[in-house]
Amino acid sequence: MRTFFISGTGTEIGKTLVTTILLRQIRMAKKPVEAIKPIITGFDENNLYKTDTAMILNELGREVSKDNIDQISPWRFKEAISPNLAADSEGRSLIVEKVAAFCKSKMHRDQILLIEGIGGGMVPLNDTETVLDLIAKVGAPIVLVVGSYLGTLSHTLTAFQAVSHYGIKIAGVVISESYKSPVSLIETQRTLSKFRNQFPFVILPRIKDIKEFTDVPCIASELGIL
Ligand SMILES: Nc1ncnc2c1ncn2[C@@H]1O[C@H](COP(=O)(O)OP(=O)(O)OP(=O)(O)O)[C@@H](O)[C@H]1O
Ligand SMILES: [Mg+2]
Repeated sequence: MRTFFISGTGTEIGKTLVTTILLRQIRMAKKPVEAIKPIITGFDENNLYKTDTAMILNELGREVSKDNIDQISPWRFKEAISPNLAADSEGRSLIVEKVAAFCKSKMHRDQILLIEGIGGGMVPLNDTETVLDLIAKVGAPIVLVVGSYLGTLSHTLTAFQAVSHYGIKIAGVVISESYKSPVSLIETQRTLSKFRNQFPFVILPRIKDIKEFTDVPCIASELGIL
């Protein structure tokens, strides 16, 4: 049983892209794999196909049905804002223990489990807890997705400090090339790996056709998942 929590330095950084690429590569290697996105905001029942949940179900080869959505994303909120505020706006609140218990219920022997987080690691889930509290309770290592934009070095090193504070392990970092990034991916990788050398730093260049996944490096192998 191996579980990886796909987190990132922020929202829209590439977590879903990395989750779907890993799913495809693990499935191509004929290894059993499951993926969940337990909490999702900005969830529009009338436009399901653009949601992270639908992208994960598509990659798993499952129908985007109410039952299948419930199985991987039980906590869904309408507003596209942070989970604590989205829950507040519906008069609800997120109980981190319950979300962690759901994640653990999806861990099975001989199966790789990928859990996509929400936003960045320090996004609040309620008045006192963040995504990192959830990850610590699940007890899984993080695959940290970061960008290559100007500013990513500071964001990534700050994320390392926060993750260490919670006693969470990092399985590896994926540097996903940001749109029109002025900074070299290799230089970003080289700089970051000087600060931490206990885990791999994997480069994911801009992907032209996401559906085809052509020229995508085998990040599952590079991260040691396969
Ligand atoms: N290396 C890349 N090549 C091409 N497109 C990318 C790359 N990295 C990210 N993107 C694009 O950036 C957008 C945001 O990525 P994605 O949806 O994976 O982010 P996210 O971290 O899951 O966001 P959220 O916080 O909303 O869950 C998507 O359109 C995605 O395809
Ligand atoms: Mg996402």
